[in-house]
Amino acid sequence: MKIKNICCIGAGYVGGPTMAVIAQKCPHIKVTVVDVNAARIAAWNDDDLDKLPVFEPGLDKVVEEARGRNLFFSTYVDQAIDEADMIFISVNTPTKTYGKGKGMAADLKYIELCARQIASVSKTNKIVVEKSTLPVRTASAIKNILDHTGNGVEFQILSNPEFLAEGTAIEDLLAPDRVLIGGDMSDKGKQAIQALVDIYANWVPQERILTTNVWSSELSKLTANAFLAQRVSSINSLSVLCEKTGADVNEVAKAIGMDSRIGSKFLKSSVGFGGSCFQKDILNLVYIAKTYGLNEVADYWEQVIIMNDYQKNRFSNNIVSTLYNTVSGKKITFLGWAFKKDTNDTRESAAIQVADNLLNEQAHIAVYDPKVVEERMYADLDYLNTRSEEENRNLLKVKADPYEACKDSHAVAVLTEWDAFKAYDWQRIYDNMLKPAFVFDGRGILDTQKLEDIGFVCYSIGKG
Ligand code: NAD
Ligand code: UDX
Repeated sequence: MKIKNICCIGAGYVGGPTMAVIAQKCPHIKVTVVDVNAARIAAWNDDDLDKLPVFEPGLDKVVEEARGRNLFFSTYVDQAIDEADMIFISVNTPTKTYGKGKGMAADLKYIELCARQIASVSKTNKIVVEKSTLPVRTASAIKNILDHTGNGVEFQILSNPEFLAEGTAIEDLLAPDRVLIGGDMSDKGKQAIQALVDIYANWVPQERILTTNVWSSELSKLTANAFLAQRVSSINSLSVLCEKTGADVNEVAKAIGMDSRIGSKFLKSSVGFGGSCFQKDILNLVYIAKTYGLNEVADYWEQVIIMNDYQKNRFSNNIVSTLYNTVSGKKITFLGWAFKKDTNDTRESAAIQVADNLLNEQAHIAVYDPKVVEERMYADLDYLNTRSEEENRNLLKVKADPYEACKDSHAVAVLTEWDAFKAYDWQRIYDNMLKPAFVFDGRGILDTQKLEDIGFVCYSIGKG
């Protein structure tokens, strides 16, 4: 079966870039990305490519090439579903904030809504692809809804989890380590799998396209994120021991990473991992383990998150104790708010928790981030509900210029590893700060020797 028309429900950080690349690489396929969020769709359609709702290096070029040719962004969800042979579900699957499984299980209400909408609109057979990250065995729930509420048309469900990381989404999509496709092992299931393999085969080498059963595919995605996050928590757990003993976490990471059995990637100690995926997916894994009564398994993975919370709180506690046990009324400057460099995404960013802790100590915070807009930062803080929206706006100020942000502050804290921070005129920053001038490098990106020569008092994560 040759796919000619694709619809993707959800124009977010995954749906947008993923479909842009499919459209770029498959000019013979019409790709329509739909979303209920009209403002987001308008931004995807904006002539000014700087206004795209997702910032990703290289994304603007891909959108520019394919948009209007075979890539379309629309709010007409029903029409796009009706016309498509293959429908990707790429909606958000956040952690539940209510009811059973609150704070742990994935909230599948958006997924279910999609399934019901697909069922009610479809008049021809469709292949439905889970692109969102879902708990293992979700495909059977989707299939149930489709088969029992539909118009008698046939649906095949595939699992095709996305492994892109934000900030490198386009390179990850163009040259993925692997593409994973899970499907039903019946003849029709195999045909559906092949239809999706054929799409990726337009640019991904066959040996990198892996096919499995649906449950392996669903579970592999949660497992991959759990393993990746575990590496960060593992190295972060050692960062504090390095600080106590005089070891240097970067040296330790290099030394162990050169062991080919361990590998060098994902061993960068930090103020804590963030992003929309790691915490949510591990909590989900923990919840699934618990529902099967596997408490030891659940506790094992939960520790990855406990260590991450410890790392974030440890960073803010250290700022307070270093600044003579009080930051009340003191100006502290944050360089970076995004959860990592090269993205405008702030979901679960360590900066949010660190800011909240310092605001509880009555600090005044000034923030500069090259890509995150002011409203986003305030929305992140307001969401925690720790203090009034007015207090958040009084205590935290967002600056458009990094030097302005650092002026008259007691301390600068690096929360995101933006490359530009390394090239700043640190002498100029020092000259305009209160003394002693402190730098807390939560990402280990600055040359502390150089800063100390200028006169800064430096703390760098994991350096004794
Ligand atoms: P997102 O919040 O950026 O985008 C989801 C979009 O879906 C939103 O724009 C929302 O308006 C839309 N939506 C929700 N319900 C809808 C409906 N019924 N009809 C139409 N549109 C609807 O989320 P995201 O970061 O793109 O993540 C999507 C999924 O991909 C999640 O399951 C996530 O776990 C997974 N994932 C994310 C990443 C990542 O790096 N962000 C990587 C791999 C996998
Ligand atoms: C992650 C997975 O990497 C990706 O495969 C999956 O599809 C979605 O979730 P993402 O969250 O976008 O991607 O970014 P990632 O590069 O994994 O970084 C996550 C967090 O870990 C960031 O806050 C990052 O700064 C932190 N991190 C990462 C470290 O602190 N140290 C490292 O060595 C690597």
